[in-house]
Amino acid sequence: MLISSKIKNGLQGYVKIPGDKSISHRSIIIPSISKGISEISNILMSDDVLHTINAMKAMGVKINTSNDKILISGNGLNSLKKPLKDMYLGNSGTSARLFAGLLSTQNFNSTLTGDKSLSSRPMKRITVPIELMGGKFEHKNGTLPLNIKGKELEPISYRIPVPSAQVKSGIILAALNTKGQTILTETSITRNHTEIMLKSFGADITIKKENNLNAIFVNGKQELTSKNIYVPCDLSSSSFFIVAAMINKNSNLKLQNININPTRDGILHALKLMGGNIKISNQRLVNDEVVGDIEVKTSDLKGCELDEDMAKIMIDEYPILSVAASFAKTPSLFKGLKELKFKESNRLELIRYNLNQCGIKCEVINNDLYIDPRKKNTISNKIRTDFDHRIAMAFAVMGSKLDNDLQINNSNCIDTSFPNFIKSFNKIGGNLIE
Ligand code: S3P
Repeated sequence: MLISSKIKNGLQGYVKIPGDKSISHRSIIIPSISKGISEISNILMSDDVLHTINAMKAMGVKINTSNDKILISGNGLNSLKKPLKDMYLGNSGTSARLFAGLLSTQNFNSTLTGDKSLSSRPMKRITVPIELMGGKFEHKNGTLPLNIKGKELEPISYRIPVPSAQVKSGIILAALNTKGQTILTETSITRNHTEIMLKSFGADITIKKENNLNAIFVNGKQELTSKNIYVPCDLSSSSFFIVAAMINKNSNLKLQNININPTRDGILHALKLMGGNIKISNQRLVNDEVVGDIEVKTSDLKGCELDEDMAKIMIDEYPILSVAASFAKTPSLFKGLKELKFKESNRLELIRYNLNQCGIKCEVINNDLYIDPRKKNTISNKIRTDFDHRIAMAFAVMGSKLDNDLQINNSNCIDTSFPNFIKSFNKIGGNLIE
């Protein structure tokens, strides 16, 4: 359990944010199916990413650590070996969806398992399109354990109905090892780290805008060439510190080398709209990803209304954005959050439940979240996380502003994405006790 207590003197200094989680997964998977040795620096060493590393090792990929860097020796698109046992992916939805696609074209059968949360998350969103390509799976009503029968697939032309980068990436990974051209049309913007990295590894992948939607063309069976990668720091992990600085008086934080890829920087737009005092400088491209430095200060926040389009470019940050909204002058309405129900927990419900626990008026109306920060009286100090790392960190930040200490249950789930969160938060003036 984690106890979060009120901060008295604000948060100040430099925060070391770990490598981006999405890019870290891809920095293991893509080099593992390329030809040659790739050197990866600043990778996130969290539970989720370790599950991806262990799965690749179980399939015969040589992955070595040398002075903070990881060296991956890849042997090509079809080079993975049958693992000796089922591959356990813990809490990691990204690993599950990406591996479901990748392994569907290998020469062996494999089984993916996960923890309680991952075992309840929907997998049909990835198995259905792969089945259209001729793929074969066995599963328990669309959930893990997922048995994958590896085989040759056929290319398809597919309109991706769910707004999911994991699904898009899983299909792209299957298409890379499938003869012919697979065409994917997105019905919604989703993060494009897979496409960016694959291009730099020499994949035959082209993106065209068609009626404002991305169409992705992948010509399969073209080997990838190894490349060194610097993983930029994670904007989703940064957002806990950004909001903590905004809501606490006398705060001034600096965060460097943060990935601000425009397909997922909605949190920055939303906080600016709320009057957040935030500056981005030194914008540059690193491995074709946009990176910048962030300075954030105490802010006089006002509520805002965000429509469904915003959810597409900031899906992971609603827990911490809801904490920001709880200390704004006026109410907020965040619309179109259906996908939040299918994350590591039912985040829509847990945001509502935990804000109410903290005495903040919060309602879910259809799939919209309404937060009225004007009434505050703590009714309970117990926070339920359902083992969801982002809920745990968001409410650790919430506790920094409340008179009563918050008790955050099962807080070791934070290791999913940010093993040093507690230390980093306390270093700049936070008050968290394990
Ligand atoms: C991720 C995509 C997002 C996000 C998740 C990581 C990825 O999920 O919520 O934390 O790395 O591709 P969707 O697949 O729902 O977009």
